[in-house]
Amino acid sequence: MSELALFGGPKTVTASNDDAFLPVSDVEIEAVVKEMRAGIVSIAGRSGVVKEFEDAFAAMCGTKYALVSNSGTNSIHAAMVALGVGPGTEVIVPSYTWHASITPILHCAATPVFCDICPDTLTPGAKEIEACITDKTVAIEIVHVWGNVAPMDEIMDLARKRGLKVLEDCSHAHGASLNGKSVGAWGDIGAFSCQGGKAVSGGELGVAVTEDPVLLDRMILTGWFGRVVAGDGARTFDHLGDMSLGVKYRPHPYAVAMANSRLKRLPCLNDCRRKNYRILNDTLRDAPHVRTIEPLPGAERGGFLEYKFILRDDLPKGVTRDRFCEAVKAEGAPLEPDRYSSFNYTYGLLHLAPMFNTFDLRQMGGCYYDFKRGDGSPKERYRPGSLPVTESICTRIVGMPGFVDVSEEYVCQVAQAIRQVAEHAEELAV
Ligand SMILES: Cc1ncc(COP(=O)(O)O)c(C=O)c1O
Repeated sequence: MSELALFGGPKTVTASNDDAFLPVSDVEIEAVVKEMRAGIVSIAGRSGVVKEFEDAFAAMCGTKYALVSNSGTNSIHAAMVALGVGPGTEVIVPSYTWHASITPILHCAATPVFCDICPDTLTPGAKEIEACITDKTVAIEIVHVWGNVAPMDEIMDLARKRGLKVLEDCSHAHGASLNGKSVGAWGDIGAFSCQGGKAVSGGELGVAVTEDPVLLDRMILTGWFGRVVAGDGARTFDHLGDMSLGVKYRPHPYAVAMANSRLKRLPCLNDCRRKNYRILNDTLRDAPHVRTIEPLPGAERGGFLEYKFILRDDLPKGVTRDRFCEAVKAEGAPLEPDRYSSFNYTYGLLHLAPMFNTFDLRQMGGCYYDFKRGDGSPKERYRPGSLPVTESICTRIVGMPGFVDVSEEYVCQVAQAIRQVAEHAEELAV
């Protein structure tokens, strides 16, 4: 007789999800109120809480500079501008990410070129990138998706050899590192979303880090009216004075104050997340039909956002991903099909989404360049099968919310619930 809760057996998870982590604790409230009480509603230069946050963020990443902005998307846009992404150029990107990693490329009238990913990290490696380099490529964008650290050492070797710039989108990976070097510090620029449920959050906020004063100044001039450029080594911009090229990416000081407090809690919260990740992976690593995502040697995860694993293609015939998740949920664990991998207009594989594939960008007006219509005729740029590894894995990824400050008992039971379903997977065939 089956022991699965789906068929009437006892639930594996009896402990409650008692996550004590509060995205907005008293510390964040006090920090925001302090700005309010001081009557600070806008900060034009690098002072006050902006300076404090940027200094602390740069110190965490081990970079010379950090530049805060009002969203991760806008940090990525300013970074793309700084890196020389413009009309007629191409940027190599993964398709398995949130659309805002890629949309800034369209605003530069440049072409995103989608590359495949490696199943070990869910990120591209050097091999996947190299296959997409053309004489128009100027940059590579890497996304450390779900806190998995990409193989930045081999990627940087390739980029330097081929004269390409590298942008790291670290929105899911605050506090992650490879060989002791922080994500964001490997590439020419690292950009982090500090939005909503991210590990460092100001509600709506972004931050970019770099070692290069010229790149910093270009990002400032793109989005920070009123801020004096860094100037050290970048005298090129003196004649612009304190002007900006215009779009306004300055953040609200309350958001910066909130993120600044959250940043102080990051090391401790990431320790909790790492412990939970280890429990889940240790329980599931040798479970049937399951492939865990293991950190690369020398990598330390950070940020996390969600816990993900892959259902292997040896899942018994007739057992779908939805059915597997249904059975795990019946056991009391919140497993869902991965949200980036279902094909629809909000979440889905970007290379097959209309915006990056069939939609004529010229309908947007403005200066949008339609890279799909070089010869004037509408055409698909990508088809199902264009990125075989991404597409295959993405039908099989599942995930759960990233647990933070939860009891070990709860995490162990959740892990056991998934293992139990994996061990009885044959019974789920429909
Ligand atoms: C991978 C990734 N890149 C970029 C962004 C955009 O950040 P924001 O929402 O702060 O603009 C997000 C937001 O969720 C993201 O997950």
